[in-house]
Amino acid sequence: MTNPIKGFSKLSKQGKIEWIVDQYFQDKEGAVELLQSYWHDDQKVQKLHDEFIENTVSNFYTPYGVAPNFLIDGKLYAIPFAIEESSVVAAAAKSASFWLERGGFKTTIISTTKIGHVHFMYDDDVEKLRTFIEEIKDRFYTDTASITANMQARGGGILDIKLVDKSDQLENYFQLEARFETCDSMGANFINSCLEQFAQTFTAAIADDSRFSESEKAVQIVMCILSNYTPECVVRSEVSCPIEQLTDGSGISPEEFAQKFSRAVKIAEIEPYRATTHNKGIMNGIDAVVIATGNDFRAIEAACHTYASRNGQYSSLTHCEVKDGIFRFWIDAPMALGTVGGLTTLHPMVKFSLELLGKPSAYELMSIIASSGLAQNFAALRALTTTGIQKGHMKMHLLNILNQLEATNEEKEIIVDHFKHNTVSHSAAVKKFCEVRGIKSPEEIKKA
Ligand code: MEV
Repeated sequence: MTNPIKGFSKLSKQGKIEWIVDQYFQDKEGAVELLQSYWHDDQKVQKLHDEFIENTVSNFYTPYGVAPNFLIDGKLYAIPFAIEESSVVAAAAKSASFWLERGGFKTTIISTTKIGHVHFMYDDDVEKLRTFIEEIKDRFYTDTASITANMQARGGGILDIKLVDKSDQLENYFQLEARFETCDSMGANFINSCLEQFAQTFTAAIADDSRFSESEKAVQIVMCILSNYTPECVVRSEVSCPIEQLTDGSGISPEEFAQKFSRAVKIAEIEPYRATTHNKGIMNGIDAVVIATGNDFRAIEAACHTYASRNGQYSSLTHCEVKDGIFRFWIDAPMALGTVGGLTTLHPMVKFSLELLGKPSAYELMSIIASSGLAQNFAALRALTTTGIQKGHMKMHLLNILNQLEATNEEKEIIVDHFKHNTVSHSAAVKKFCEVRGIKSPEEIKKA
């Protein structure tokens, strides 16, 4: 029986571990040892990690892999991926090499504007409110001058503030909707600080204005927050080549490949069940680079899925056209990223990733990450429409099974060779392992 605890956050790290282990573990010593085995040897680095979040008791490793040969806008990148799923990095690298020989990825930053809202309730004359907001607009800018000074010096700032009437959808609901340019930073703190100041400016100004009655002045500010939906911060990455260059090695003709591939994309455009898996594969590529570069993958995920639903039905983020002998494949993805501030200056591996990428601007990083998503989708659709996905997956799965069984390198070599000509399954892999090791079942190893 476990007990609730008060003041867990106030316990020392050791105290927290003792409590967890005491409450939830049979093998208490083993649990402590495991947590400690994931601590970083360098205490400074460990302290940094401890302080990223709250109640830290250990670290949770994610593999960090690199996919080279990404030619993007004429520049060659080796892209870092932080991801636990096998095959993703291999797929990215394979697509990168394929397109390296066909002109690479070409990208366009469609727009870079971010949006935030002061959500509020107002129960009166809308026209009077509209006029008032126009009249006090300059105050929104002057009252946020100290917050925006640095951003303005870097070429960004507040672009626009307007009143949005949402009262037809929710009684008395209005927004102050503001647009921002945040340059190389993701800008969440900047935007939220501006929005909170707008709310203060607004409530103070309306309270001082004799045209409004006491009830009209009782504007209720519900909340001030940026939107992670960024349909005006969008990048396009595309690849294209003459159809005859779509040689695949799987035996399928370039024409048939182009046709099947574009049909697979069309299916994802009209069928939400498929679109979800299709976009999940894209996010394999996007999230992994977003994480490796210290950005917020939950924000990017949320934006991409909302964007994929923008026409009223969840649909593919990628599109394909086969026209006049040319195969064209592209992604449009919302991508609010930063290359300064936040984790980018704190996490040693994030700094490494950004250096590996040549210290990109946020706009360049948008292009890199969209290209990694497109590469991922190309690899997935290429496999799905030709050999099937399981061949590659099971190869990686086999290695995971063998690692779990603690097979030696020689054993792995023999078993991997065997499965080049045999179908991989968990039981078949275990059986072969036992045969190679000369045991009846893996239980024998545990007993020994
Ligand atoms: C697996 O993580 C991703 C795929 O399912 C994506 C797809 O089906 O397009 C292979």
